[in-house]
Amino acid sequence: MERAQRKIDHINIALRTGQQRKSGLEDVSFVHQSLPEISLDNVDFTTEIGGLTLSSPIFINAMTGGGGVETERINRELAIAARETGMAMAVGSQMGAIKDSGQEASYKVARQENPDGILIGNLGGEATVEQAKRASDMIQANAFQIHINVIQELTMPEGDRNFVGILSRIEEINKSLDVPLIVKEVGFGMSKETVEQLHSVGVSIIDVGGFGGTNFARIENERRSKVLGYFNDWGIPTAASVIEAVNVSPALSILGSGGIQNPLEMAKSLALGAKGLGVAGHFLKLHKENGLKKLIDEINYIHEDLKIIMTALGAANLPELRKTKMVITGDTFHWLTQRGIDCSAYAR
Ligand code: FNR
Repeated sequence: MERAQRKIDHINIALRTGQQRKSGLEDVSFVHQSLPEISLDNVDFTTEIGGLTLSSPIFINAMTGGGGVETERINRELAIAARETGMAMAVGSQMGAIKDSGQEASYKVARQENPDGILIGNLGGEATVEQAKRASDMIQANAFQIHINVIQELTMPEGDRNFVGILSRIEEINKSLDVPLIVKEVGFGMSKETVEQLHSVGVSIIDVGGFGGTNFARIENERRSKVLGYFNDWGIPTAASVIEAVNVSPALSILGSGGIQNPLEMAKSLALGAKGLGVAGHFLKLHKENGLKKLIDEINYIHEDLKIIMTALGAANLPELRKTKMVITGDTFHWLTQRGIDCSAYAR
């Protein structure tokens, strides 16, 4: 019951605290080119991740399930939005259903509503191989996320305090699952060192889950009496995190997320090298405030606008978008320069 109530609290506090709007993507500017030599009709943003072909690079990132009928209703409507717009969707952590089978319906509904769609399962870094297999089978997942969220757990009053063994559990799960594994953060970002550690144990798909959007330190601080305020500004902003991650190895598929809301931020993240983009809090808010139909309309607008922006940039597909020139300024420039990454490589 405590876990189910926490799921409801997370939704309500996430909606109340909103998005930080400090992802660092505001520091990235495209260099305008006046002769793009392209027609909008030829723009295609199909992407391939872990052998899966996605008709949209944008996916609904993990949020919910495990909180009874309310979370079942949200997952049903998110799954319908995913189906109608051709997007992949991740369900929230399935530990609720692993511990209490009565919660399974709140996750399975996503598969029922979207039998042919790309659905992604989710558990935390504490999961065993057996739990990951059960969770994956529960929703006939096409891919599976393991989230790592140390700062959230430390801030959560009832959260984990022992983080020994996560990397080796991830390695085992990656070897044992028969669907592609994605390792993700939840809004604190990943450094190149973390990405290297994951790469070294065979993980090839990483969602950086950067700082700048939904802030789980703030959310958990609202749930505790003694506030750990120093975590409220803790994390690697999304733009810097994507760039750190893509520079580790071309063999990796890096996904961008954390505070991504609009088509321009999406185009920038893809141009920086992300192969896909997760959106969580923004879609949750759109759905809560405007309902399912408006959410679907908005996603369709995002797809149209992304194609318009790609046309302006002369990019007919995502590999071409990655070749566009960008200037990186502000805090993101300083961060990357100190981290040994040459920003001028993106501008020339
Ligand atoms: C989340 N997120 C999340 N992530 C995860 O891996 N498992 C989970 O169960 C949840 N639960 C969850 C609940 C709610 C209400 C929100 C808003 C988010 C984190 C999410 O997938 C994402 O990493 C962060 O929210 C950052 O992205 P946005 O929200 O800034 O787009």
